[in-house]
Amino acid sequence: MKKIIALLLMLAMLVCCFASCGSDAETTSSEDTSSVATKTVLKMGTNAYFQPYEYYEGEKIIGIDAEIAAAIAEKLGMELEIVDMQFDSIITAVNEGSVDFGMAGMTVNEERLKEVDFSTSYANGVQVIIVKEGSSIKTVDDLYADGASQKVGVQLGTTGDTYATGDFGDRVTQYSNGNEAVLALNGGEVDCVIIDNEPAKALVNANKGLKILETSYADEDYAICVKKGNNDLLDKINKAIDELVADGTIDTIVAKYIK
Ligand code: ARG
Repeated sequence: MKKIIALLLMLAMLVCCFASCGSDAETTSSEDTSSVATKTVLKMGTNAYFQPYEYYEGEKIIGIDAEIAAAIAEKLGMELEIVDMQFDSIITAVNEGSVDFGMAGMTVNEERLKEVDFSTSYANGVQVIIVKEGSSIKTVDDLYADGASQKVGVQLGTTGDTYATGDFGDRVTQYSNGNEAVLALNGGEVDCVIIDNEPAKALVNANKGLKILETSYADEDYAICVKKGNNDLLDKINKAIDELVADGTIDTIVAKYIK
């Protein structure tokens, strides 16, 4: 009987010892996952009201950018996490490090190049003008005519906003996304909306009585932005984009969303 008790005691001590070893090991590994070296999640900042580049299907964010980003993350051996925010917060989020990169049909321009670094461009964009069918605005020049007074809706913080505000001053109203700008157009608050061509097509398809003017407003290139000087990530992203262009992946993704 005594022997059995002694054996049980020994067993109990052994179990205790293993358990404490185990918890030690756990503490060490959880410390490791928080360090950069073992980071496996790649965070993308976007504004998911920009079909077909990024938009919601149910709870999920899908689109050209979402899929290209997932393909890039896969090449980097990382898991993609998409963080939806206001378009004009993306560059700040990238610089603060709350996301690793920004991808949002984002146009490369001089102003932004002062704040962030951009990857190789993966798509082109065109700023176009949406009007109501039968609008007195027939071409982009009508907006510049002497005494012109038409009101212009844009998405806050976009190139459309910057250029239009420069050209038309207080005739411009900023909305937090294209859907809201088009609602304002439908409601008569503004007479036209300046926005990128593919989202414009999606908005016109979803709203009766609107059309896109044939004359465009500006031509642009889209790219991914990273924090200034983050060459390590930028090089990896550029290499991934090159490979995804070369093997046709980007074309396939674009063709899936733009017919
Ligand atoms: N291309 C424009 C820009 O860079 C508009 C982009 C808006 N993107 C978005 N996901 N809402 O300013």
